[in-house]
Amino acid sequence: TLSIDAGTAAHALPSTFFGVMTEDINHSGEGGLYAELLQNRSLMASATSPTGWSAVGGADIALDGSNGLNTALTRSLLVTVPAGAKAAGVANGGFWGIPVVPGRQYQASFFAKSDSAYDGPVDVSVVGGDGTVYAHGRVDDGVGTSWHQFKVKLTADQDAPATSDARFVLTVRGGKAARSVWLSNVSLFPPTYKNVRNGLRTDLMAKIAGLKPSFIREPGGNYLEGNTLATRFDWKSTIGPVWTRPGHQDDAWGYWSTDGMGLLEYLEWAESVGAEPLLAVYAGYNLNGTHVPVDQLGPYVQDALDEIQYATGSTDTVWGRKRAEDGHPAPFKISYVEIGNEDWFDKSGSYDGDNGRFAQFYDAIRAKYPSIKLVATTEVKSRTPDVLDLHYYESPAWMDAHADLFDSYSRSTGTKIMVGEWAAQEGKPTPDLNAALGDASWLTGLMRNSDLVTQEAYAPLLANVNSVQWNTNLIGFDALTSYGSPSYWVQSVLAKNHGDQVLNADYAGIGGLNTVVTRDSTTGKIYVVVVNPNGTAQPVKVSLTGAGAIPATGTATVVSSARPTDTNSITQPDNIVPVTTPVTGLGSEFTRTFPAYSMTVLTLG
Ligand code: AHR
Repeated sequence: TLSIDAGTAAHALPSTFFGVMTEDINHSGEGGLYAELLQNRSLMASATSPTGWSAVGGADIALDGSNGLNTALTRSLLVTVPAGAKAAGVANGGFWGIPVVPGRQYQASFFAKSDSAYDGPVDVSVVGGDGTVYAHGRVDDGVGTSWHQFKVKLTADQDAPATSDARFVLTVRGGKAARSVWLSNVSLFPPTYKNVRNGLRTDLMAKIAGLKPSFIREPGGNYLEGNTLATRFDWKSTIGPVWTRPGHQDDAWGYWSTDGMGLLEYLEWAESVGAEPLLAVYAGYNLNGTHVPVDQLGPYVQDALDEIQYATGSTDTVWGRKRAEDGHPAPFKISYVEIGNEDWFDKSGSYDGDNGRFAQFYDAIRAKYPSIKLVATTEVKSRTPDVLDLHYYESPAWMDAHADLFDSYSRSTGTKIMVGEWAAQEGKPTPDLNAALGDASWLTGLMRNSDLVTQEAYAPLLANVNSVQWNTNLIGFDALTSYGSPSYWVQSVLAKNHGDQVLNADYAGIGGLNTVVTRDSTTGKIYVVVVNPNGTAQPVKVSLTGAGAIPATGTATVVSSARPTDTNSITQPDNIVPVTTPVTGLGSEFTRTFPAYSMTVLTLG
């Protein structure tokens, strides 16, 4: 029996509870959520070759280190066009293909200059693997001898196929003699989510919105720290016009980031799904085990203060004004700042201590922004953090068995817990049903303990299935399509179907199942979550007291499948999706059988 005391709430389910964690891993930003379609548009990914680019029509191409666009983009693409060529130039295959759908619009742009004035056309196209031109645009302005930016729109034919077997091609005509043309910041954008400039991919954003996140922890993880000081997320070099951003090697995960998805784009991402940025600031530790000596931290503490001012400051402040110049005059609301990432890796002990890294950031941020809550990434004694960020990557069985982990966790210090990274790991590149049920069990435990665990975020969020550095990720995608894993659907269902109060219930009374019950204090609706990770269906008697009359009808939303190893993929995106059906026979006492391998949310009332 699941005995529920619906008369009094045990505690509130905080509105901050459901969140999202992000970093650039598995090409989740570059070649993923960031909508830019061309790889290495800035030509800065390699010092020796034009990675991602190839020659077409008999042209010669080379990376030119002495004809940069500016001090940030110090390299360019030198295209030598043979005399008499009809159409010679360059191609870029994007991130495992350029996506084409009928009628798709693209915005192409590029900087170009020539060794002698060229008054012919520049043609840009999206061309299929068999040579079919799906979309074409032309710039007729000619190319002069100094850098100039050109823009042109392209639209895919209505009878084009849906495919990612395509590449971007840019060509010019040859003259009487060979001609040199230099290219820089060559870009191709599809429409973006909510049409934000320099914005994000629409299908992935729709999925993220479906998680109803209240916060986005950004950018967190190893990406924030980098392997070295030089390759951290150095936010000041990620703002301003994209062609003034040098980019950096994402050496935590092994690829180049143009930083087109920079600090402002991270902040706007949160804003566009109604979430608050939970800003993670670099705190002096790098993955190679080095740290900025504590007596030299001053400039990095100042960087964090500047970063908070960039995000939250009015336009009367230096960095708030810069944000406005960058296109976002309105300040963002930030209630939480996280200091570092997984600083328990720092075996030197430099995070804690009275002059430690945490204390220095904490004191400076608290003095200037007293209302911002500060998150520590490992236990500290020097200060009392508002929130402690704990991470759990475990097996589905472990998650099932430890759903009660926080039941007996000390509440004495007042520090709240953010489970800022967690996942039941089984399945690559995305979890199978077994993992999803481990996740569901784990989430019931976090929700039940949300007087203490005020925030949670699964990780990693996204994986380009062509480049997977981390096995189990929530949402998979390629250049053309994307899908939610069973874990995605578990989380989406829970984020959409819960009340704002957690009810007292005999949660431990039903062996083998994990449960949580919430109630909406406004509508009176009660949400009963039952996770059955076992291979046999389980009848449960549900008994509610203290709620008055409970209607006999409601709904059941179920995530389930025949086998725990069943999953979703690019080719089978909807194998496992939630199914909602009307239910009768409910009331203050009823028995319901919960299917094998399932998570069910019963909505009563
Ligand atoms: O989510 C993948 C990695 O796991 C994160 O970058 C890091 O914080 C953790 O170790």
